[in-house]
Amino acid sequence: MAARRRGAALRFCATVFLLDMAFCKGYVEDLDESFKENRKDDIWLVDFYAPWCGHCKKLEPIWNEVGLEMKSIGSPVKVGKMDATSYSSIASEFGVRGYPTIKLLKGDLAYNYRGPRTKDDIIEFAHRVSGALIRPLPSQQMFEHVRKRHRVFFVYIGGESPLKEKYIDAASELIVYTYFFSASEEVVPEYVTLKEMPAVLVFKDETYFVYDEYEDGDLSSWINRERFQNYLTMDGFLLYELGDTGKLVAIAVIDEKNTSVEHTRLKSIIQEVARDYRDQFHRDFQFGHMDGNDYINTLLMDEVKVPTVVVLNTSNQQYFLLDRQIKNAEDMVQFIHNILDGTVDAQGGDSILQRLKRIVFDAKSTIVSIFKSSPLTGCFLFGLPLGVISIMCYGIYTADTDGGYIEERYDVSKSEAESPEPVEESKEKQEPRSGDSLVPAVQEPKDVLEKKKD
Ligand SMILES: *[C@@H]1O[C@H](CO)[C@@H](O)[C@H](O)[C@H]1NC(C)=O
Ligand SMILES: *[C@@H]1O[C@H](CO)[C@@H](O)[C@H](O)[C@H]1NC(C)=O
Repeated sequence: MAARRRGAALRFCATVFLLDMAFCKGYVEDLDESFKENRKDDIWLVDFYAPWCGHCKKLEPIWNEVGLEMKSIGSPVKVGKMDATSYSSIASEFGVRGYPTIKLLKGDLAYNYRGPRTKDDIIEFAHRVSGALIRPLPSQQMFEHVRKRHRVFFVYIGGESPLKEKYIDAASELIVYTYFFSASEEVVPEYVTLKEMPAVLVFKDETYFVYDEYEDGDLSSWINRERFQNYLTMDGFLLYELGDTGKLVAIAVIDEKNTSVEHTRLKSIIQEVARDYRDQFHRDFQFGHMDGNDYINTLLMDEVKVPTVVVLNTSNQQYFLLDRQIKNAEDMVQFIHNILDGTVDAQGGDSILQRLKRIVFDAKSTIVSIFKSSPLTGCFLFGLPLGVISIMCYGIYTADTDGGYIEERYDVSKSEAESPEPVEESKEKQEPRSGDSLVPAVQEPKDVLEKKKD
């Protein structure tokens, strides 16, 4: 009954949408300073935006759809938006440093959304983060259901233990990325063999891997490394995320629209290696393909020809290229072995020379993009002495990345950040303080404070 009414509301809105956008915007609350006091009892998904920012404008229609859908499925999560320039003190209390910033606010916790800005991804994030941190899997049927639904998920098997404590800690940090479950031994499929209990497992790529405290190190970093499928369609955002894993990333750079055999074959070769050599390479390698060479060119500051294979070392920003076409899977495996035994020369890296090259490259591409978007400004800039231009442009570029959420070039600039800490905290955890629930329990996030130090 209720579902039908919601369905009707949705259809109604879809119809009205054409006539009256304002009606549907009604599902997104416009927040002001009263939000700080009023949000307490609810879970909120908030878009902190700036009226002038282009990425924010792009997000707006998507955000309205998110609001509409959350309402129509009866989600307990409320959707709002706040002009972070008008309410800058509140925004900075919530740790907003760029626009748009999407956060899920749940009691004392604030979770940053860093995924792709699509309706489905944002809604999935809201469901995941607003729900239980560790979800119990009471039966084999439930396990099957979850296995069908999620491409990657983690399961703790066993009773109370120090490992479970660590699992909970890791989950509270990494719930922004993936799903965490707990189950008893009987619930997991028979093909799973456990040498020890308790255990933490990841299920993905039609198989599973067991966490080994001695070989895999810290549980959080293992989860961070294992939270990706073995083979992925790469984009700038994903590469940035993969930067945390320290793995080598082998990418087929192809033109997806090109149906010639060179392109399709290269993709299948990488897929084949990812699948058939999983046991050998899964610990150190990540595989995938990328459409077009724009991003890779920016990353490598070089022009790679398409199709080709690039192997990136995410620990030191070095990369490996082959001067010939890969013929088959064995050929690719040979290339990987040559990389591992050091017979292929690494290029790039994060040495001082590389950083300089990066600065010049960034300045150059900024000038080009200024020229593209506004030739007049470009001409004006070029009227100035070159040194001043470079400095200015670099300044403009830096300011842009600060405000622009995930810049395409983020993953490389990461290693060049002044401080070695991660670029952005995925989550700011505010210690729940007892007895002062009237005081908004929002503190400046740790990384902001650290930034101020340097
Ligand atoms: C497809 O790729 C091949 C080989 O790289 C190239 O020669 C050809 O011109 C491409 N075709 C199109 C339509 O881009
Ligand atoms: C990748 O970078 C790390 C850190 O510098 C280094 O230890 C490792 O040997 C590199 N891997 C390869 C294959 O070059």
